[in-house]
Amino acid sequence: MATGKKSAKAAVKTARVEVKNAVNEVKSDAKSHARAESSSGHGITIAPAKGKLGVMIPGMGAVATTFVAGVEAIRKGLAKPIGSLTQMGTVRLGKRTDGRSPKVSDFVPLATLDDLVFTGWDIFDDNMYDAASHAGVLDQRLLDQLKPFLSSVKPRAAVFDHNYVKKIDGPNVKKGKTKMDLAEQLRADIRDFRKTSGASRLITMWCGSTESYIEATAAHQSVKAFEKALRENDEMIAPSMIYAYASLMEGVPFANGAPNLTVDLPVMLELSRKNNAPICGKDFKTGQTLMKTVLAPAFKARLLGLSGWYSTNILGNRDGEVLDDPGSFKTKEESKLGVLEHILQPALYPDLYGNIFHKVRINYYPPRGDNKEGWDNIDIFGWLGYPMQIKVDFLCRDSILAAPIVLDLVLFLDLAKRAGMRGIQEWLSFYFKSPMCAPELYPEHDLFIQSMKLKNTLRWMMSEDLITHLGQEYYD
Ligand SMILES: NC(=O)c1ccc[n+]([C@@H]2O[C@H](COP(=O)([O-])OP(=O)(O)OC[C@H]3O[C@@H](n4cnc5c(N)ncnc54)[C@H](O)[C@@H]3O)[C@@H](O)[C@H]2O)c1
Repeated sequence: MATGKKSAKAAVKTARVEVKNAVNEVKSDAKSHARAESSSGHGITIAPAKGKLGVMIPGMGAVATTFVAGVEAIRKGLAKPIGSLTQMGTVRLGKRTDGRSPKVSDFVPLATLDDLVFTGWDIFDDNMYDAASHAGVLDQRLLDQLKPFLSSVKPRAAVFDHNYVKKIDGPNVKKGKTKMDLAEQLRADIRDFRKTSGASRLITMWCGSTESYIEATAAHQSVKAFEKALRENDEMIAPSMIYAYASLMEGVPFANGAPNLTVDLPVMLELSRKNNAPICGKDFKTGQTLMKTVLAPAFKARLLGLSGWYSTNILGNRDGEVLDDPGSFKTKEESKLGVLEHILQPALYPDLYGNIFHKVRINYYPPRGDNKEGWDNIDIFGWLGYPMQIKVDFLCRDSILAAPIVLDLVLFLDLAKRAGMRGIQEWLSFYFKSPMCAPELYPEHDLFIQSMKLKNTLRWMMSEDLITHLGQEYYD
């Protein structure tokens, strides 16, 4: 009770501060921020986005090629960046009556699409044109218009371990006596790309296959333990971790698009903080989970109960083939299952969410290629416990949904790095199925909370008032 009173008081106090903030005169014009040589937020200074931004992609498959081909198509004026917040989104500033909603790209100083240069690693030696043609996501006529550019992006030899991805094998793989040797070779690749591309800044974006499920061990707890394990070829070090280690050692931010642990480890957090290289992950939130994190918050907001959620997918791309292996599927399953528990908070609402049957299946079905079908059967209940059902059948295109996420993450991680932000970038949870957060926190999965968090972080960076949606000032 005492705690309740205290928190009620605190809430009133916060609300007062929020009202005060909301009625504050907004001082500066957003566009002038973006153009400024450097801009300061709450004690932070954002270095300007000068020069080229190098994007390094381990895993040049369907997602990576759809992203790179898409960027080039947009640069050539052949298509529009649909689905990208950094390219098409706006951010409201000040009061609703102020009429200030600049484009995100006019508000925060982001790199432009023309600044982007690319490299990558893959176990197959297909260049990006061949890899994109093989992935079969984009129309061949579009790819042919981009052929000279896409053919010029060739994969570097990968760090690969068949034990971690059992369904595929390829010839373009590095050799080394120890995992530390392999890490050194990746670091040499990174330095080489920095030099040959002339990029002033770099980002690594994991778009490689989903690795087999493992849990963190003593080897992942500190940089010292991890380096010893690298030298001793510890089998608990997965290839994706070697890329992450190499990137962070070079001070390069790292985003993880797959559900592997990769940067979600104490060692990587330590390196990220030490070397000023922000990290984020895991697992791009594209189709079915996007829908889940839209619908589940609606049920909770309206206090509708849930007894079961059965999700099944059919897909026929290489990702689907990899996920046909139980080890890789387990990694994906863990990532997809956590969502409901965190949104619905059964401990707080035992009558509504205390007994949910949640099942996720992924079935490899080659005829569909990248055009996945995700079905959801949702059993809910309402007033007096009366049951109802919802069916969702999302005929989506996996890589078409993932590509704009990759673009936004590249640009926002680069912004974070220039703003001196280190460690986990929780404000980028919006883009992930299984968002990384501080060990003492639970992740925020609700898409609308994530969106608000992201936009408020941008406002905070640019010293604009945060938006609380309180709105009392309109009725005074
Ligand atoms: N909507 C989506 O497409 C989506 C959503 C969420 C997560 N993901 C994840 O993103 C990743 C990429 O998906 P995709 O559809 O492009 O898959 P894909 O199979 O087309 O591409 C993955 C590529 O990674 C390569 N690879 C595997 N291990 C590697 C290594 N150690 N080093 C370098 N290359 C390696 C493979 O050869 C392959 O070309 C997968 O892990 C997938 O689960 C995709």
